[in-house]
Amino acid sequence: MAAQLSREELKKKRERYLFPSVKQLYTDPPHFVRGKMQYLYDETGREYLDMFGGIVTVSVGHCHPKVAQRTVEQVQTLQHTSTVFLTQPMVDLAEKLADIAPGDLSKSFITNSGTEANESAIKLARLASGRHEVIALQHSYHGESHLASTLTANHGYRPDLMPAAGIYHAANAYCYRCPFKKTPDNCSLECARDVERVIQTQTSGKPAVMIAEPIQGVGGTITPPPEYFVEVKKILSQYGVLFIADEVQTGVGRTGTSWFGITNYNVVPDIITMAKGLGNGIPIGAVITTPEIADRVAKQQINTFGGNPVSATTALAVLETIEDEKLMANAGKIGAYLEDGLKDMMKQFPDVIGEVRGKGLMIGIELADKNKTPLSKETARIVEMSKDEGVIIGKGGLYGNVIRLKPPMNISKENADTLLKVLRKAIEATVKVGVS
Ligand SMILES: Cc1ncc(COP(=O)(O)O)c(C=O)c1O
Repeated sequence: MAAQLSREELKKKRERYLFPSVKQLYTDPPHFVRGKMQYLYDETGREYLDMFGGIVTVSVGHCHPKVAQRTVEQVQTLQHTSTVFLTQPMVDLAEKLADIAPGDLSKSFITNSGTEANESAIKLARLASGRHEVIALQHSYHGESHLASTLTANHGYRPDLMPAAGIYHAANAYCYRCPFKKTPDNCSLECARDVERVIQTQTSGKPAVMIAEPIQGVGGTITPPPEYFVEVKKILSQYGVLFIADEVQTGVGRTGTSWFGITNYNVVPDIITMAKGLGNGIPIGAVITTPEIADRVAKQQINTFGGNPVSATTALAVLETIEDEKLMANAGKIGAYLEDGLKDMMKQFPDVIGEVRGKGLMIGIELADKNKTPLSKETARIVEMSKDEGVIIGKGGLYGNVIRLKPPMNISKENADTLLKVLRKAIEATVKVGVS
């Protein structure tokens, strides 16, 4: 094992050998050396409550003993063959995905990440439909490859390159900052109708597919109103356009009421992509679709690592653990408790907390003053202060002013109380120095 470096040595080495674009959340980062369920530990042994789960990925807890044991056993038995050979774990995982997926979605292609799942899903939709154009939503995040970063509509994650061809963005259902200046009492779902406007005015009228996150994650937990996706799906059906639900963040039960975020909207997509929480930290992604769509792809697809025995066994163990430990119900219960606590805090700090939103353990707190001016600097400070108090929280949104809470789904009421206490203290300190 390599000798453990001091924090300063490690920071310097990272700077020297990694791309500067691989940025860190903190200006003064802890050096994590161990994880156990909802906790992380730095090199001094200090414990941190992890309310961000390694960017919405640690679904059942860091190094969950039962999951880790199955992973280790598989590593010691058979690690790799590739998709051209017959092995059981990938097939068992695909069967389980068919079991939990809505509607007729029952055939899978296993990948290594969310980006790769979205790349594959777009290719699948294009091949299956014989069409090319794609619609995505503003403020979305779909990954970091050339195609996925063009699907992404947030300049912070868009490299300065020629974008991939044929991708168009409709307005998103961002009620707090409604792109059509509507309010909940006069909302006529203009945002859903914008999808039709984009089809009619920016495409040939025959796009292949639309991709959307049921709740936009990196975009700042932007949560569409209940009727939004039903309206969008109606429009897409009218124009023969397929629909991909990007469940990379909302999947595996995080929203507390169903395995997939889109099910909460009473919509069955044509294709689902997932990753992150499916592997609890082991790299994996998946594309799930109907036999009718999958069977239209005649050419061979290889994926060297996709569905390898270790990732597939881990993912299966993760899904079984979610069921055995009733983690979906826990996400719903603790999520609702947290949301209530945060909404109370919003009443106490109306000039700092603009909105609390989300579902289950996918919660966003948009920090803005009474005029909705984003409090971006303050958000960064609160995130750093919370870490100093031993709680890890995330940050997102186009303006970097949304606190993101997406912890492992096993967290307790006591953990939620710790978060509320630490956040209140950080906001009080922020108010004391004055918001800018
Ligand atoms: C909704 C969504 N889709 C796709 C991705 C890309 O996944 P990955 O980082 O595994 O490539 C992310 C990553 O944050 C995501 O949030």
